[in-house]
Amino acid sequence: MKILGISGSLRRGSYNTSLLRAAARLLPGDVEFELWGGLKEVPPYDEDDDTDEAPAAAAAFREAIAGADAVLFATPEYNSSVPGQLKNAIDWASRPLRTNPLRNKPVAVVGASTGAFGALGSQAELRKVLAATGARVVEGEVPVGRAPSCFDEDGQLVDERALEQVEEVVTSLVAATAARGEALAPTLACAA
Ligand code: FNR
Repeated sequence: MKILGISGSLRRGSYNTSLLRAAARLLPGDVEFELWGGLKEVPPYDEDDDTDEAPAAAAAFREAIAGADAVLFATPEYNSSVPGQLKNAIDWASRPLRTNPLRNKPVAVVGASTGAFGALGSQAELRKVLAATGARVVEGEVPVGRAPSCFDEDGQLVDERALEQVEEVVTSLVAATAARGEALAPTLACAA
């Protein structure tokens, strides 16, 4: 099983990217985790450019999602919503609507902010956006509020409650992904 991690922050010292690294450490040993780093290169969505030869960075994003069994998003909150760069990339991934790589893909959302509410508002908005693409959105949220006090100077998540919540969400995501894999497995014909 492979999980793709997507941080909605482009910042080098991003708490949300650190949150994904914490999530990766909490995954079972047999689950592969890849942190996707191409968000800044994805151009603004333009339907005129969304042809058979979509821009390379947008095509690469679609392929990265298609190549993963599940996706874990960590989103900051910008003005009570999802950062534009993350929403823009998801708009690219959401087309073509019927066959888009997020359709039926198990996804989960976590988030960190320097404010008190831990990006709860943007997590709710992101879940709504992901549901609109046809993704299977796993229940649960991880509101890491007042983020500077939850990470140490090396960017490690040290807040016990947040660690527990991250573990709950990644456990749910792995279970939903495993259940989907079983449902998709070919049924063996009866030998009798
Ligand atoms: C913010 N921040 C913020 N925080 C919050 O709790 N609610 C909000 O609405 C906003 N709005 C907002 C807008 C913009 C443009 C910026 C740059 C920042 C603060 C935000 O939580 C903080 O910068 C986080 O550190 C961003 O996450 P990363 O980059 O550390 O992952």
